Amino acid sequence: MLYRIARPVKYIGLGFAVIAVLALAIAPFSTRLVEQWSRSDVEARSRLVYKAIQNSMVRAIADGDTSRLAAIFENVALDDRILAVALCDESGRLINPTKLMPATFSCDKVARSEAESFSTIFNDGRRILVGTFPIVERNQKAYLLVLHDLSFIDTRSGEAHGFVVAALAGIAIAIAGVAAVFVVVMLRGWMTSLRRAVEEVRSGAVLSPQARDRSAIDHQIKKLLGEIEIGRETITSRQIDWSPAALQELLRKTLPDVEVLVISNREPYIHNRENGEISLQTPASGLVSALEPVIRACGGTWIAHGSGNADRETVDHDDKIRVPPDAPSYTLRRIWISDEEQDGYYYGFANEGLWPLCHIAFVRPQFREADWRQYEAINQRFAEAVVQEARTPDPIVLVQDYHFALAPRMIRQRLPRATIITFWHIPWPNAETFSICPWKERIIDGLLGSTILGFHTQFHCNNFFETVDRFVESRIDREHATVTSGGHETMVRAYPISIEWPPKALAGQPSIDLCRSQVRESLGLAADVKLAVGIERFDYTKGILDRMKAVDDLLTRDPAWKRRFTFLQVAAPTRSKLASYSTLQSEAVALAGDINARHGDDSWQPVVLLIRHHEAADVFRLFRAADVCIVSSLHDGMNLVAKEFVAARDDEKGVLVLSSFTGASRELSEALIVNPYNTHEMSAALDTALRMPGHEQQERMRLMRQQVREWNVYRWAGRMLIDAKASRQRLRILDISEANQVR
Ligand code: F6P
Repeated sequence: MLYRIARPVKYIGLGFAVIAVLALAIAPFSTRLVEQWSRSDVEARSRLVYKAIQNSMVRAIADGDTSRLAAIFENVALDDRILAVALCDESGRLINPTKLMPATFSCDKVARSEAESFSTIFNDGRRILVGTFPIVERNQKAYLLVLHDLSFIDTRSGEAHGFVVAALAGIAIAIAGVAAVFVVVMLRGWMTSLRRAVEEVRSGAVLSPQARDRSAIDHQIKKLLGEIEIGRETITSRQIDWSPAALQELLRKTLPDVEVLVISNREPYIHNRENGEISLQTPASGLVSALEPVIRACGGTWIAHGSGNADRETVDHDDKIRVPPDAPSYTLRRIWISDEEQDGYYYGFANEGLWPLCHIAFVRPQFREADWRQYEAINQRFAEAVVQEARTPDPIVLVQDYHFALAPRMIRQRLPRATIITFWHIPWPNAETFSICPWKERIIDGLLGSTILGFHTQFHCNNFFETVDRFVESRIDREHATVTSGGHETMVRAYPISIEWPPKALAGQPSIDLCRSQVRESLGLAADVKLAVGIERFDYTKGILDRMKAVDDLLTRDPAWKRRFTFLQVAAPTRSKLASYSTLQSEAVALAGDINARHGDDSWQPVVLLIRHHEAADVFRLFRAADVCIVSSLHDGMNLVAKEFVAARDDEKGVLVLSSFTGASRELSEALIVNPYNTHEMSAALDTALRMPGHEQQERMRLMRQQVREWNVYRWAGRMLIDAKASRQRLRILDISEANQVR
């Protein structure tokens, strides 16, 4: 629209310029015209005078009556324009000049020929036109001279020039006036329709076709609003103190009545029957611990694989259950997957294909056609479930992780107006690495069905851009971080995931001292033994063997630590069906036994390995009891264990040893950052951590806690929702703009 306003303004300016050029061009032309016209007028008058007095003059000359001749001349000279009249005889003598004849005038100054002639002479700064008319009487030749003062021509040309300029200026002013009225009227109309359109966009009302026709918003406004939104996003996401209430407020104000749907493989609550009793388990999953507080705040429906052996018993006839069980705030819809499907989709393609493909842990990815088919089918099943659950045509769908790379496109095909936010919780490899996947184009295309695609770090976004660039026909706009493919635009951004603040698991925790004594007692350790912990799923990407080797190295290099230090590894069994995982478990058990045999004795074991799932409250108690937490992932998208350790330490003590290959290391720079492949570097860091004075621990921990508090999971979700809101507005404005163009 702005260019439509700018256009007349531009034309007015152009008009003025043209008129100025015209005035400059016409000025000398009009002067010349007036001059020529005045001069021929004067010449005609001279001729008239000659004709009028010719006979009487000839008679007076023939009679030799000079006084009659003088009287005739004086009579002619009475005319205002005529300066003087006289005769020149053949010898060049001036005869009977009238009174105003210039004193310096002589007959030599004019041509005396057989025919009439006109010449211009200058006298006292004046231009004088001299008309010379030959007279022949009785073989005597004389010349009548009629002198006109031409200074009136200069006055007349000046006036003509002034008139031309004034006329053109008048025209210009008239045009400008008309154009100004036109612009004002147009501006008013546009502003009214803009205001109406923005109000409609803001209110989220569905536009009727008539309303769309009314609007005059076009691409310029769309761009403008987009920029405003981006600016607003920066301000709001930074300024808000992010909490569940802030997230709810954001939804209420900017996305009123929006429907939120989540899909993930892992469900937030698992029902299992053990010894005839149904028990509730919350899984060891970073994804679940991050997303659960968000969906609790937003409400909505979470669609996930029902993996518990009592899950079917606990849902209603629509496979749904309200959770959390103690204070229900959202719906869990369970999807059933057979063992065979699970082998192909989850164990096969997701965890033997994509997982090792995306993590640099030097485990060879396995790609099997049959697994891929199952993966496709399960993605389709979840996409169908989203369509079934959606009550509106444009829900916000949060697609989680590498289990659902195809689902965004499948959902988009069925719900074209949905806002699909896909978050990839693991790293994205470089294009070279990704190229080995036989279905790479399908995976990229599936993800590009998203409205927003999120990664933990900018580095992974850049890897994704590079991969898209290599394998898919698309337009990548790195400045605005978008990929456009098949006419659909996907925003690709870094949203570092985090944990809730304050963490729910912290509520009701005993004091730090009590946690320390309880845990040491349960492990059979003396009260002054230093404790380092590692807590995670038993996954080969976590570097569990590497940290054990660092413990071994520390005790070998500095035996003084014996009986003064213990390392506790808590590992939740995971994906144990896969050889790469079961082998890791056996290796870890063997390595722990070997280290204990070499360094331990009957009363003290340097490594304690607990292979079982711990609920969040137990994990937090261990964190609070520890002096050091070791996170030595070989590769990790973010790693929320590191953030949970920091959140658990409200005493501002404890040291975090953190792998540089985690996304978390970019935020928690006050940790002792290590390369887990370098055993000696890690053992040295462990030694530093165990010796670190309290005040240094406090300074480091305080800064890390501030980072995790401010960049908590509500901000992670809030930033994505703000971007989703901006994208929804852009979509609406695009609709309006398209409707205008059709019109
Ligand atoms: O790291 C990716 C991820 O989805 C995490 O978010 C989560 O902790 C883990 O994998 C879950 O693994 P699984 O559900 O296979 O046990």
